[in-house]
Amino acid sequence: MSTMTLNAGEAVPAQKEATQPVAEQTEVKSRAANPNSQVDGTVGSPFCDDAKLRMRNVNVFYGESQAIHDVSLDIGRNQVVAMIGPSGCGKSTFLRCLNRMNDTIEGCRVEGELSLDGEAIYGPKVDVVPLRARVGMVFQKPNPFPKSIYDNVAYGPKIHGIASRRAELDEIVENSLRRAGLWNEVKDRLDKPGTGLSGGQQQRLCIARAIAVSPEVILMDEPCSALDPIATARIEELIDELRENYTIAIVTHSMQQAARVSQRTAYFHLGKLVEVNDTETVFTNPEHDLTEAYITGRFG
Ligand SMILES: Nc1ncnc2c1ncn2[C@@H]1O[C@H](COP(=O)(O)OP(=O)(O)OP(=O)(O)O)[C@@H](O)[C@H]1O
Ligand SMILES: [Mg+2]
Repeated sequence: MSTMTLNAGEAVPAQKEATQPVAEQTEVKSRAANPNSQVDGTVGSPFCDDAKLRMRNVNVFYGESQAIHDVSLDIGRNQVVAMIGPSGCGKSTFLRCLNRMNDTIEGCRVEGELSLDGEAIYGPKVDVVPLRARVGMVFQKPNPFPKSIYDNVAYGPKIHGIASRRAELDEIVENSLRRAGLWNEVKDRLDKPGTGLSGGQQQRLCIARAIAVSPEVILMDEPCSALDPIATARIEELIDELRENYTIAIVTHSMQQAARVSQRTAYFHLGKLVEVNDTETVFTNPEHDLTEAYITGRFG
């Protein structure tokens, strides 16, 4: 970059243009390694070129109390972004902004610009039902409907009008359960209640239910916290496979999990987004002292 601008100095008009960016870059570099580092108080690289979700200056309030302060972040297409930070720092609150789940909480107010493929998520004409089909969610506690395994997965495609004929639904149910890594375990008992499965199976059923409506983004809020290590490993493998087709944001309290499944990691602290970097950097060479204190277990 700087070599290019020095060469451009031969021509007078170009020199004038070139001087400013060089000065800016030098100043920014002296403060931190990345030119994005001072953006909105977040260090690292909160923005990316191929953003699926773009959030700018997001503030969230519960009544008078502010839970998210001026957060700006991009989530790249076909990327897994992990959101980490101490309990109560606002991870779930921020995640719920992305498919307007906060709309369901009385007194919760979201400010800022949030867009999905360039379309405003909070636009006046946005219908939240199709939005939530495009941006699906998997919660901490598996929450299958009190219906059969088959109906848990077929429900979304039916209400969203994706399929109505039995043969089409059968195909979607099978494909979704296969992609969620559950098909072989349940194919002979599709008419049995979803709630009769083990915790890990229920969570994979919830993932199958989420992907049955062909979402573009999947939000996961501590999807493995109720699961044993084997079920957790299965879900983590699945997340890696799903990344081929989906964009994923995952909240986790497990730093090992964040390191295993994500390409970028966002560290939140007291409602602020402190640092975003590629996952390896966050866990081996964090830029911010607060991130370092958290990942080394000094608090949180
Ligand atoms: N429904 C609500 N009404 C009022 N305040 C809330 C509500 N939900 C969350 N908060 C507050 O907002 C802040 C952020 O909470 P949030 O649940 O987003 O944190 P979190 O990072 O997901 O925590 P955890 O790791 O414990 O799940 C906290 O101070 C919390 O008390
Ligand atoms: Mg939470």
